[in-house]
Order: sequence, then structure tokens, then C-alpha cells
Amino acid sequence: MDTLTVQPGGVLSGTLRVAGDKSISHRAIMLGALAEGTTHVTGFLEGEDCLATLEAFRAMGVPIRREGPGEVIIEGVGMHGLRAPEGPLDMGNSGTAMRLLCGVLAGQAFDSELTGDTSLSRRPMRRVTEPLTRMGAQIDTAEGGTPPLRVRGGQPLQGTEYALEVASAQVKSALLLAGLWAEGRTCVTEPAPTRDHTERMLEGFGVEVERDGATACVAGGGRLRGGDVDVPADISSAAFFMVGASIAPGSHVILRHVGVNPTRTGVIEILRRMGADIRLLDLREVSGEPVADIEVLSHELRGIEIPEDQVPLAIDEFPAIFIAAACAHGETVLTGAEELRVKESDRIQVMADGLAALGVDCEVRPDGIRIQGGDGFQGGEIQSHGDHRIAMAFAMAALRADAPVTIHDCRNVATSFPDFADLARQTGLHLEAQ
Ligand code: S3P
Repeated sequence: MDTLTVQPGGVLSGTLRVAGDKSISHRAIMLGALAEGTTHVTGFLEGEDCLATLEAFRAMGVPIRREGPGEVIIEGVGMHGLRAPEGPLDMGNSGTAMRLLCGVLAGQAFDSELTGDTSLSRRPMRRVTEPLTRMGAQIDTAEGGTPPLRVRGGQPLQGTEYALEVASAQVKSALLLAGLWAEGRTCVTEPAPTRDHTERMLEGFGVEVERDGATACVAGGGRLRGGDVDVPADISSAAFFMVGASIAPGSHVILRHVGVNPTRTGVIEILRRMGADIRLLDLREVSGEPVADIEVLSHELRGIEIPEDQVPLAIDEFPAIFIAAACAHGETVLTGAEELRVKESDRIQVMADGLAALGVDCEVRPDGIRIQGGDGFQGGEIQSHGDHRIAMAFAMAALRADAPVTIHDCRNVATSFPDFADLARQTGLHLEAQ
């Protein structure tokens, strides 16, 4: 699927379960591999990103079986059971896989190398390699601090106390994971709350994580116990349908079994402030994570100033939120979001180019964007720059367009949401994939 063509108009309706949570799926493979005993994962995201993690652990000698859809059985090898892979570990498009694995590999006895695709090869890695080096790791990057990463094995690690410069769950997780092999305690303090799936899942696998305000600490030398992980649907994938249903008059969708961890629900908070009608039904806890069904009814939206404290809590949802902002009355302003420039693409510039191509008035700023809301979009052509979330966000824009929207370079939708096109069609989008 390289090009998506979406005919204008339509209404979203129905009950659907979107793809499994990407962040939790990566972590389930990693912790399951390092645990003692069997880990049974259900709801696993069979997207390319998480499959890259799965293949990397297979390449390090971990028996991993894929049973039914979304079902994975991992025979954990324990904290000291990984073996040297035969060649470089290819992380594809996945920043999460590369950064978290870098933390794991820093504690191993063998040398390893992490590589990625063109987009990943441009992304900043010093944010993980610098603190890991302080712990005693030896990691080489390419010039400019980008991949490939060469990790020297057999380096003893020391626990550390590290205050993160950027609010990044990937960096926090890499350090906590490396801390499992370090001597003493490793404590990470974050400047703002970020997703805490690593902390929650470590606890589920029997590792004590001390959490005090913005700081999380683990002690080295512990062991992980395998078990069952039920992965909820990904709120980041659900976000496209939340926005689509909000902006297309007459829409009504129920998104089933979605992870609603409070470190991920910024998109609900922001859309509600814009006037969206979103309800959480049957809130429950599954494998240590809050889960709910999410009901969305279309509603008129208004522009807002997005509170900066919501930025890390909605970091992956801004492409979808920008589409909502373009359909709102008045202006929406985002600030404090420079991290968006180093995601799978520069999501501020690429979204602004796409919005402009569809006739939306917007102004790019170094750390955000101003979007003038209006009645909807004109048709046009979008370059997604290989960024899955840009592609899916603009597919939803067609619901409020007056002519077809054609989106190019969409293959990477398969990294996070392989059945997006089918589900979107079933729910009411007039979409064709070529
Ligand atoms: C992720 C953390 C976020 C997010 C990414 C997944 C994770 O990245 O953008 O898609 O699973 O830890 P940062 O931590 O770099 O912000």
C-alpha cells in the first residue's frame, strides 16, 4: 500500500477494535525475553515496528512463537541468557525498538550493532547513548549522534541518578532497562510525566520499581518472572477514529478495549477541551494498565491554546489533533512541542505542508504551530514522507473535504496499524489503497 485515495465526505459509525498498543507490545517482547519462564502475549501489535523487536530477540537466541493473530509465546532466557546475534539488528522505522534495545544491549557480554531505515537513521540517539555512557557503557554512533549504534559488550555498568533533559519515555526506559544489569540503583527523573508502561510492566514481571513523584528507580541484579500480558488497543491508533468521528457530522463510534493509561490520554483531554463528545465506558484494569471502551459522537469543535503540560501526554497524536483543529471554529495554537520535529518525520513541517496543500491557513513556529480553523478542506495531494501517522491523519481529513485527498508514501502505515485501511473502510471512510 503506497498511495491512499480517499473520496470526500462520509460518516463514521460502528464498533471496532483498533491495532494493539505499540509501546506495550515492544515491552512485552523485551521483558518476556529477559524473564524466567513462559510469557503469553495476547493483543500483540503485528506491525513492522514490534516485529523488528521480536526478530531482534529471536536473533539473540530467544525462542518466540507466533500462534494465532496477536498471540505470541516467549520462552524467556533470563537476565543472562541472550546470545550474540550473527549480524546487525535492524530496527526498521522504530525509534522505540532502537532506544530501548540500546539500554538492554549496554548490559550484555557481547558486541552488537543496531541499524534502521532512512528515517530512523536521521533520528537523535545521543539522548540515550550519553547517559548510558555515564553508566559505563561503550556505544559508538555515526557522526551527528545518529544510527547505526555499535554497542561494546562486557562493560560493567554502574547505577546512576539521571535527570532527563527531554520528556522522553524512550530514554527513561532505556536507562531503567540498563539499570537491571547495573551495580546499585538507577534513578531517572523526568521533566514532565511520560508514558510509564516500562515501570508498570517491570512491576508485573516482579521487579520492584520505586516511584516518587517524577523519579523512578530500579535496583540492579534482579530477576524477571514471565506471565501473561494482555495488550490493549493503542490509543494512538484509536486517535484517528476519535478525530474522524468528531469532525464528520452524524458519526458515532465505539472503540473497544483501548489503553487509557493517564500518561497517554492527552488526546482525549485536548479534544474534549475543543468540545468533542468522548466518553469512557467500562473502565477496568488489564495486565496493570487501565483500559476502557471509548464512545465518540460527532460534535462542533472550537480552537484552543493547547496546554503545554498535555504535550508529552499526546505526543504521537498531534497529526490527528491538527486535523481536528483545522475543522474547529477559531484558532488553535500549539507551543512547547519541538520534539515533534524529531519523530518519524518533522511532524510540524510535514503537517503544515499537508494542511496548506488542502487549503488550511497555518503558521509554523519553532516549537509548534498555529492553525486557523475553518469549514474543512479542499481536495489535494499529500506527501506523508513515509510517516505512518501523517498518512492516517490526512485520510481522516477527507471526511470534511470537498474533493478527493490522495496521500503518497503510505507504506509505513504497516509499522503501527497494518489493518488501518480495512477498518477505516468498514467504519465509513471511502478509501482506496494502491
Ligand atoms: C514511545 C515514546 C514516545 C513516542 C513513541 C513511543 C515509547 O517517544 O513518541 O512513539 O514506547 O516509549 P519519546 O519517548 O521519544 O517521546
